[in-house]
Amino acid sequence: MEVKTSLLDNMIGVGDMVLLEPLNEDSFIMNLRNRFDHNEIYTYIGSVVISMNPYRSLPIYTPQKVEEYRNRNFYELSPHIYALADEAYRSLRDQDKDQCILITGESGAGKTEASKLVMSYVAAVCGKGQEVNKVKEQLLQSNPVLEAFGNAKTMRNDNSSRFGKYMDIEFDFKGDPLGGVISNYLLEKSRVCKQPRGERNFHIFYQLLSGASDDTLVKLKLDRDFSKYNYLSLDSANVNGLDDAASFRTVRNAMQIVGFMEAEVQSVLELVAAVLKLGNIEFKPESRVNGFDESRVKDKNDLKEMCELLGIEQSVLERAFSYRTVEAKMEKMSTTLNVAQAYYARDALAKNLYSRLFSWLVTRINESIKAQAKTRHKVMGVLDIYGFEIFEVRDNSFEQFIINYCNEKLQQIFIELTLREEQEEYIREDIEWTNIEYFNNAVICDLIENNQNGILAMLDEECLRPGTVTDDTFLDKLNTICAEHQHFESRLNKNSKFLTDHSLPHSCFRIQHYAGKVLYRVEGFVDKNNDLLYRDLSQAMYKATHSLMRQLFPEGNPAKVNLKRPPTAGFQFKASVGVLMKNLQTKNPNYIRCIKPNDKKVAHIFTDSLVCHQVRYLGLVENVRVRRAGYAFRQPYESCLERYKMLCKKTWPHWRGPARDGVEVLLTDCSVPTEEFAYGRSKIFIRNPRTLFTLEERRRACLEDLATLIQKIYRGWKSRTHFLLLKKSQVVVAAWYRRYAQQNKYQKIKSATLVMQSFIRGWKARNILRQLKYEKRCKEAVTTIAAYWHGTQARMELRRLKTEARNKRAVSVIWAYWQGTKARRELRRLKEEARRKHAVAIIWAYWLGLQVRREYRKFFRANAGKKIYDFTIQRIMQKYFLGLKTTTMSPMDNSWPAKPYGFLEGAHTQLRRIFHLWRCKKYRGQFTEEKKAVYEEKLEASEIFKDKKALYPSSVSQPFKGDYLEIQKNPKYQKLNSAMEEKVLLADLVNKINRANGKGSPRLFLLTKSNFVLADQKTGQVKASVPLPDLASVSVSTQSDGFFALKLKEGSASASKGDFLLSSEHLIEIITKLHRIGTTAADRDQINIDISDEFLVQFKQDKVCVKFIQGGPKNGNSAACKRKNNRLLEVSVPSP
Ligand SMILES: Nc1ncnc2c1ncn2[C@@H]1O[C@H](COP(=O)(O)OP(=O)(O)O)[C@@H](O)[C@H]1O
Ligand SMILES: [Mg+2]
Repeated sequence: MEVKTSLLDNMIGVGDMVLLEPLNEDSFIMNLRNRFDHNEIYTYIGSVVISMNPYRSLPIYTPQKVEEYRNRNFYELSPHIYALADEAYRSLRDQDKDQCILITGESGAGKTEASKLVMSYVAAVCGKGQEVNKVKEQLLQSNPVLEAFGNAKTMRNDNSSRFGKYMDIEFDFKGDPLGGVISNYLLEKSRVCKQPRGERNFHIFYQLLSGASDDTLVKLKLDRDFSKYNYLSLDSANVNGLDDAASFRTVRNAMQIVGFMEAEVQSVLELVAAVLKLGNIEFKPESRVNGFDESRVKDKNDLKEMCELLGIEQSVLERAFSYRTVEAKMEKMSTTLNVAQAYYARDALAKNLYSRLFSWLVTRINESIKAQAKTRHKVMGVLDIYGFEIFEVRDNSFEQFIINYCNEKLQQIFIELTLREEQEEYIREDIEWTNIEYFNNAVICDLIENNQNGILAMLDEECLRPGTVTDDTFLDKLNTICAEHQHFESRLNKNSKFLTDHSLPHSCFRIQHYAGKVLYRVEGFVDKNNDLLYRDLSQAMYKATHSLMRQLFPEGNPAKVNLKRPPTAGFQFKASVGVLMKNLQTKNPNYIRCIKPNDKKVAHIFTDSLVCHQVRYLGLVENVRVRRAGYAFRQPYESCLERYKMLCKKTWPHWRGPARDGVEVLLTDCSVPTEEFAYGRSKIFIRNPRTLFTLEERRRACLEDLATLIQKIYRGWKSRTHFLLLKKSQVVVAAWYRRYAQQNKYQKIKSATLVMQSFIRGWKARNILRQLKYEKRCKEAVTTIAAYWHGTQARMELRRLKTEARNKRAVSVIWAYWQGTKARRELRRLKEEARRKHAVAIIWAYWLGLQVRREYRKFFRANAGKKIYDFTIQRIMQKYFLGLKTTTMSPMDNSWPAKPYGFLEGAHTQLRRIFHLWRCKKYRGQFTEEKKAVYEEKLEASEIFKDKKALYPSSVSQPFKGDYLEIQKNPKYQKLNSAMEEKVLLADLVNKINRANGKGSPRLFLLTKSNFVLADQKTGQVKASVPLPDLASVSVSTQSDGFFALKLKEGSASASKGDFLLSSEHLIEIITKLHRIGTTAADRDQINIDISDEFLVQFKQDKVCVKFIQGGPKNGNSAACKRKNNRLLEVSVPSP
């Protein structure tokens, strides 16, 4: 069951100021303070919500709170901004009434926060779904973007909105958001160029410099250093609790969500950078011939960079800062600007650039959040606009004047609508309307906005007037025209009563606003109203290539030169306020009045004077008065009856019948005076809060009685229940106990019975046992006797059996022997038989094997045998050839592997021969020509001597050196050498055998191609030189000696000297060479070589026989020659 609650429950002070008693300013503030101290920051005045800024986060905005306030009636729960938001949203959704939520209060009072709370509440309770959520997200994310560009840190508020904002949120018939439209009012653009002490420029400048990446900053030609920019105040660049870098990321993200393209974001940042650059441009005077100073740009670097950012030709802008074109009567004139004018032009450009960028942002956001569907919308407008502003210290100027004018207008419709609502309710409820006295501020609005003689109209007139116009001429005009107005005060007024008012300086005028008197200093009014931007500058801007500039400066289009002045700031503002008011009047208003409790922006401090000031100018007490002028309190009959029905027996506990009758009965019963209330159609109206509180008091007393009654009944019920429970328990306990006792008794009887039973059974058993024992004993006696008798019988039988057995054993031994003999004989026979059988089995197995092989051969595949054979042969051959690899390549090597298989015999010997021939050929192939000649000689030697002379084998291994004497080199033989006409083929030492004694004398033996020479060994003198053709033959023995005879042709020239018998160690070589010369020379015959052990030698006249004997007397190792007689020389050769 839903619990019915009321605002009146657990109130701290009064939750609705309408119930305040007594009502005056002090009690009003006391109530606010009391509630503020108890963290109750919201208080109602009827349906208006007063919100105190707590300056700290309270746990009252949780999703649970949203649920709590969702779909509840306004007065049901303690005051909350959610109650107002819920009421507004539900009447929009259910009753199809467009709503507006008007939030007012001074700077820092929490208006922007309140507007965000309302929006977030509505977002939380309205429909859900992908599309709807996207719309909600876009609407909510438009806030951070606008705050970055339109908010700044001020003395009063670290996040102060420097523009007015009105946002229409559009819903469909179901109450789902479709989109929105934002309008902005009067951005405080003077802040771009100059900020009051302790305040900052707009957040975006600081956010950009702290949060942008290095890359971006380079692109924007910026430095991450606030101090480099003239437009940024330094003293409060860093604000506690504000993280500019993080905010920058939030803003970029929000822009993305709202739907800004990356390029658009870039363009926007470029303009922001351009404004910063613009602030750094400085001017210096340059004297001209005509004596005037003309301004020149001091350092052109910033100008250059700014022009690059915006895509402006530098010279154009430079010129626009030095000259100005004035057009009058179709004539163009160019005048120079002095330094002050140049600075004015620069700042005007910066302000215009920034404020137009801001308006462009609003337009761009509107494009994104615009509702798509064309169906009829329901609208909830949220107005977050600057509150009434009065500076005590600073001078109030044009801006404050405009702001206060706006607040006057709001106050006007507030009163109008409150009264209208009140009146409408009375009519609806059919209650007599009593006229309410209140101050109507229409007269002040008229003072400001009247088209003929309003202050704004006069300011415009003054601005457009030809001739010199100053702020003072404007004040003069005011003094003459507004003199009679009750709310206008000025020192130089015709109204003499201010002449001596020293609180009113000469250059000021004062207006009595509904919220108090405000003194305005007239300085700057004309300029600010004109809001002049030289045409040269706007034309220069229009020429820029930057994508946004044409949209921002459309008046710079030379094609649309318009000589008419643009509308003034005041005019524009008045117009937009007019539109806003018209818009608000068509909607059902909901008010949130924000109050700030202290000037220090801290929690828990409540400054009475400050709050009093705000309460006064917001006209809150007045508001309460209006609200309760007729009847202070009203309540639907149902809830009234529900709340107070306990005060009357007839209505308690239930009233069956219409609620209205119930309330009537109730009030009569309570004897409330009849003039204190009136019966409406659905509501009871109570004139005095006191009456309500009396009712409340009685209700509380009654509730106490009722509580006692409830307590009494509850106690009785509780005791009785307890008693019944005890009783019930007692029965259960008794039953359990009885059962237990009976159980015990039964157990006892049962066990006694068992004892008796066992005794009887025991006695019976013993009797039977005795009987049985007797019978058993009789049986045993009989058995014993029988046993003895059987024993005797058995022994006799045993004896007989034993003799019988002894006989039987003898027989069986004999039998066994005989059996044994028989068995051995049998065994022998069996063994013989088995051996024979084994032999047969083996033969049989062989025969079977043979048969099987024969049989099996049939199944062999026809050419498998051949293949296996081939393979085997191949393998054998392979192995064989690999085995041959071990033989060496030396021709001397005689080794050859043994033949591995008989069938290879022929091939093996052939192969050995072939291989030997081949390696010989290889060996020969390596020979050089000389070596070949040597070998040829050796070959020849072998042909001559092999197996013919015993000396030969020992010469085989000796190389044929030829020149043993080294005749060419040895100086000893130089003479001899030069005597030789041809190349010496052989030179050696030989022994010439003397015929007389057979002794040898040493001689040098030289051989050339054509002759041989014998020379003295010591002198080298030639003893004999014989041409080879004269040589007939050579004789040698068959033995191993070195003797040889050179026989000359008979009749030749040399023959006269006789033959030579010589001996040499190199006999084989000498003879071979001689023979070789013979074979190669074409002109003579071959030299004969006789090999025999006896030959004749012709010494001069006689022939002497030389005979060789083997194994003569040992005389060293060499052969010795002896003369035997005149005709015989004997040579004995040692046996080998
Ligand atoms: N309901 C609130 N709860 C907590 N802090 C608040 C609340 N309302 C305002 N504030 C604090 O006060 C500051 C100023 O509020 P703001 O809404 O910006 O003032 P205004 O828009 O009226 O100038 C906020 O930055 C916030 O710190
Ligand atoms: Mg604000």
